[in-house]
Amino acid sequence: MTSELVSRISKLNSISESPVFPVMEGKVTRIVGLTMEAVGCHVALGDRCSVYVKEGKWIESEVVGFTDNLTYLMPTETIDGISPGARVKPLTGDGMMPVGPELLGRVVNGLGKPLDGKGPIKTKDTIGLQGGLINPLKRQPITETLDVGIKAINSLLSVGKGQRLGLFAGSGVGKSILLGMMTRFTEADITIVGLIGERGREVKEFIEQILGTEGLERSVVVASPADDSALMRLRAATLTTRIAEYYRDQGKNVLLLMDSLTRYAQAQREIALSVGEPPATKGYPPSVFSKLPQLIERAGNGEQGGGSITAFYTVLTEGDDQQDPIADASRAILDGHIVLSRQLAEEGHYPAIDIEASISRVMPHIVSEAHLSGALRVKQLYSKYQQNQDLIAVGAYSKGTDSEIDQAMELMPEIKAFLQQSLQEKFTIEESLEALVKAMT
Ligand SMILES: Nc1ncnc2c1ncn2[C@@H]1O[C@H](COP(=O)(O)OP(=O)(O)O)[C@@H](O)[C@H]1O
Ligand SMILES: [Mg+2]
Repeated sequence: MTSELVSRISKLNSISESPVFPVMEGKVTRIVGLTMEAVGCHVALGDRCSVYVKEGKWIESEVVGFTDNLTYLMPTETIDGISPGARVKPLTGDGMMPVGPELLGRVVNGLGKPLDGKGPIKTKDTIGLQGGLINPLKRQPITETLDVGIKAINSLLSVGKGQRLGLFAGSGVGKSILLGMMTRFTEADITIVGLIGERGREVKEFIEQILGTEGLERSVVVASPADDSALMRLRAATLTTRIAEYYRDQGKNVLLLMDSLTRYAQAQREIALSVGEPPATKGYPPSVFSKLPQLIERAGNGEQGGGSITAFYTVLTEGDDQQDPIADASRAILDGHIVLSRQLAEEGHYPAIDIEASISRVMPHIVSEAHLSGALRVKQLYSKYQQNQDLIAVGAYSKGTDSEIDQAMELMPEIKAFLQQSLQEKFTIEESLEALVKAMT
């Protein structure tokens, strides 16, 4: 009966000027965990639907899978109040999000709704959640450096405009504070911060204390704390990236900071497992590993004449385990990684960047010969010192045995001091290089 109706309507559409499509509502038949099963809707994977809750309230959900005539839906909000047979109304078109200069200084959720209590956001522009992909051959190569305001990074791990880096660390080692410092100090035109799956308290702390008014003024924050639905957390990560793309397409140099990529992967795992995808690596289903590059590939340089998105994704290395599957997968798709060391943090050495374990893969292409060789020299001396630290500490090393170790020992206090930077200090690239030269002489 319904298929007959569809074919009659499509026949009519072919003769009428503006085609009309029937909206076929379905209904909820079952809810398992957070997944809703619905029958009767004509929808495709990734489509959005509105589900009736009660008292005139609807919630948005997304089609995440189907079997035979059953459609699986994931909600963006809590599903409390949905009853058997609740109406499911397919939504037409791509979910449009507000974007524009009006977003500056604002904090929004994964649906683009304000969270900061500063009133509604009225923007002239909107963007769809699904952006067009850039032809990899048309992307501008990474040729210029981006000043991030942190001397250890500016000098030893130079970041290129359009580079995508991972910030690998366990919890409480200083990721959020480093991201906040970069937001305040970078020369990028705008910073887009995605806070994905953090605790609510951390979100508040990041915005109020770490960013402060100065940092917030030049950024847009998309926040989806851990108690948001998995779909909402994914949306927030996508929205963060879409907002960054919007500014890039206007020719801006954007700094995108996503905290954390691991929580994004976990949200994807939650959804994939709940629709029955089998887990593969350490509980992560295969789709997670294809979602990561899909998200990360959106950042980077635009086509000729466009701007750039330089991105930092934090990756949690639980128990400081660098072999975590998400850490492994991200290391392979990112253009560099900065590792924060718990040992340095415990020594009170901040930012706790482990310069031996960190690498910027594009650095050799974007800095001068002199800069590169200076940076290599610091790394060599630092490594030399670390390798022989035990000997030096117990006094088993006698001066004059190895000139390399002698030099490392002599310069180590300066190098250590050079690598540290306090919260309120900003170092431009020139200032960072000057400080480096000073430490080495
Ligand atoms: N640059 C810094 N200077 C001084 N203390 C710092 C610095 N970075 C981090 N810390 C200390 O480490 C703690 C945890 O930092 P945070 O950025 O919240 O960690 P993470 O985001 O990795 O969990 C902070 O509360 C602070 O005490
Ligand atoms: Mg944090």
